[in-house]
Amino acid sequence: MSKRFYITTAIYYVNGSPHLGHAYEKIVTDVIARSRRSLGQEVFFLTGLDEHGQKVQQAAQAEGKSPQAYCDELAAQWQAFAARLGITNDDFVRTTQPRHKAVVQAMLNKLHARGELYKAPYRGWYSWKEETFLTEKDRLPDGSFDPVWGEVKELIEENWYFRMAKYQPWLIEFIEANPTFVQPDSRRNEVLGFLKSQTLEDLCISRPAARLNWGIPIPFDPDYVNYVWFDALSNYYSIPVALGDIEAAAPLKGFYESEISNPKSPIRLWPADIHVIGKDIVRFHAVYWPIMLKAADIPLPKQVLVHGWWQKDGDKMSKTTGNVVDPLAVIDEWGLDAFRFYVLRELDIGPDGNWTDAGFRARYQAELANGLGNLVNRSLSMLKRYRQGIVPGRSDELSPDATKVVTDTRTLLEKNELQRALLSIWSLVTRANQYVDQTAPFKLAKDPAQAKRLDEVLYNLAETCRVLAVLLWPFLPDTAAKIYTQLGLTGTPDKFSAAAWGGVSAGHIIGEPAPLFPRKDV
Ligand code: MSP
Repeated sequence: MSKRFYITTAIYYVNGSPHLGHAYEKIVTDVIARSRRSLGQEVFFLTGLDEHGQKVQQAAQAEGKSPQAYCDELAAQWQAFAARLGITNDDFVRTTQPRHKAVVQAMLNKLHARGELYKAPYRGWYSWKEETFLTEKDRLPDGSFDPVWGEVKELIEENWYFRMAKYQPWLIEFIEANPTFVQPDSRRNEVLGFLKSQTLEDLCISRPAARLNWGIPIPFDPDYVNYVWFDALSNYYSIPVALGDIEAAAPLKGFYESEISNPKSPIRLWPADIHVIGKDIVRFHAVYWPIMLKAADIPLPKQVLVHGWWQKDGDKMSKTTGNVVDPLAVIDEWGLDAFRFYVLRELDIGPDGNWTDAGFRARYQAELANGLGNLVNRSLSMLKRYRQGIVPGRSDELSPDATKVVTDTRTLLEKNELQRALLSIWSLVTRANQYVDQTAPFKLAKDPAQAKRLDEVLYNLAETCRVLAVLLWPFLPDTAAKIYTQLGLTGTPDKFSAAAWGGVSAGHIIGEPAPLFPRKDV
């Protein structure tokens, strides 16, 4: 059994509300997953929710609900959100699921047995009102804490620690020897810069159950629950183990009891190929996570792929100021593919992005309505009008252009260069629109002596539309499917190999053309 290409998103705080940033991360990951499937790889795509912790416990209490009931309601909303984005995840992890907890406890037991965990006093600034420890980041410029925290006092309590600090030299060496472990390079340099200039401390991984019970119990010390980051990061590994990946589970031998040695449907997932995350959580993924795995003798993931953050109109998005983009409202008004297109075309994986409504409309109008939409609509309408929708004999005039774009796009998809892949695809859209203007089929149609030339032009246009549908599928799945339907083709354009020139044959009858991206007057 071969290992699948295994890709993940971060898992989202269940009590946060889904916004543009979350949608972006899921869509980026979805496009990579769909691209790999289209290129013939078997893929497993995991996304999900981070459900434990003080804030969830408090929010549930405030609403008079049990934390589990509170999480269940929110989880349903998050799952609906993913569905609205057209996300093709294969599973949905929730950190409150027993399948996840069992693996986290096995990892903790193993680390404990290896002497990687110890108990020591934890010292910090504690807000009694909000029942949480504050950090230096929570201090106001004058050094005090905001009155919203109420009384803040230094508190010392015993907790469990993970011996992370001693792995610092190993991690530096590992990241230097594996230049693609953190990507893009700017993020990798940032991690190395941090590791070389600061001393890592051991990681506190527990909270007393008396104070916080909404967490995974520390299996060897029932007075404590596991504190969130250890729990959250482990999701990437717990699900492969729980699903029956025997090789993934092997390092937990003696610590993980289940039917795993004889799973009903074996699967090979671990190590993950790509963890897609945002820039704010790089340190957890590129420092804590590899060290946790190394200490437990579990193979490391191959790559942490870091995207930037979205702003709106040049400012941080914030619910309190109302400066937000609601992905679902945009999708309702403009369609899912228009939304997917804008975020992928506007922002490369890495830098920060800025959403403006004007920028969104401009791309919709120029690239979707006038670019792709117009090309497909006029190509198929002319074929319908001048040839009753019957595809003429094969002609290869645009074949070199299309073939070059197919080759370039494949290379870019293999490198996860999604924005450049779209630019490559759009170079074919532009080329084909120029071809219409240059060959002027509407003029050819008036001259019976030009019938053969008109046949050639119409074939090239229909076939280019078909190739485009295949190339677009990972990005704009609904649009790709519509182009196929309008071409009268059955099936889904989800195999990259179908992008080879010459797929539509003479005599084939196309379907009904209809605008893909209706022009909107604003
Ligand atoms: N629960 C943790 C992650 C645990 S992963 C083991 C968390 N959750 S989050 O809901 O706050 O963020 C989830 C993802 O959304 C992160 O990768 C984060 O970077 C991303 N984004 C949150 N706001 C964003 C933008 N404004 N723009 C782009 N991505 C953003 O952190």
